Amino acid sequence: MAKIPHSLVSTFLILSIVLSFMILANAKSQRFARYLSPATLGLKKEKLSHLHFYFHDIVSGKNPTAVQIARADMTNTSSTGFGMVAMIDDPLTTRPELNSKLLGRAQGIYASASQSDLGLLMTMNFGFVEGKYNGSTLSVLGRNSVLSTVREMPIVGGSGLFRFARGYAQARTHTFDIKTGDAVVEYNVYVYHY
Ligand SMILES: *[C@@H]1O[C@H](CO)[C@@H](O)[C@H](O)[C@H]1NC(C)=O
Ligand SMILES: *[C@@H]1O[C@H](CO)[C@@H](O)[C@H](O)[C@H]1NC(C)=O
Repeated sequence: MAKIPHSLVSTFLILSIVLSFMILANAKSQRFARYLSPATLGLKKEKLSHLHFYFHDIVSGKNPTAVQIARADMTNTSSTGFGMVAMIDDPLTTRPELNSKLLGRAQGIYASASQSDLGLLMTMNFGFVEGKYNGSTLSVLGRNSVLSTVREMPIVGGSGLFRFARGYAQARTHTFDIKTGDAVVEYNVYVYHY
């Protein structure tokens, strides 16, 4: 019987070990889901922040920041403008004056979603440009009953400094120009984040 040389046996052993490691490594890289410790993402302590700013909804003039993009046939005859949809890119500033410091922009869509009162569906992102908040965002998804003194809308998420955000925004109309439809709204946002 031919004797198998030692070197061949060890080469085969090494090869099979390497192969099984490769299969393992491959299985790992293709894994769909896994548990992580929050420290892996550098998450330390959850913080609560309060943000305060003014939101400028300009519908009139040559440079509106809120434009109607759709309406239903019945919108004109609906007392609540039901079916109207607007796209916004509204400046957020430190003070009620439009020329005060820009903190960010509210970008998204609001739509008249109520047939019995003035109730808007708000889906928008606050994109901040100020200091360490520059580039971070908060996402709002909520109901805005615009004639109420205080409207509360959920903060459903965020990015950057606001990863894992959750909280709420309180909106109060600061000024509303009946002639033009332009509004300045004060926002107080309370948000948990890491
Ligand atoms: C609704 O009113 C606007 C402006 O008043 C007009 O331009 C539009 O054609 C009307 N739409 C319908 C469906 O009546
Ligand atoms: C915010 O970040 C952008 C891109 O990183 C930069 O171009 C811009 O100057 C920054 N703005 C402020 C106000 O720091």
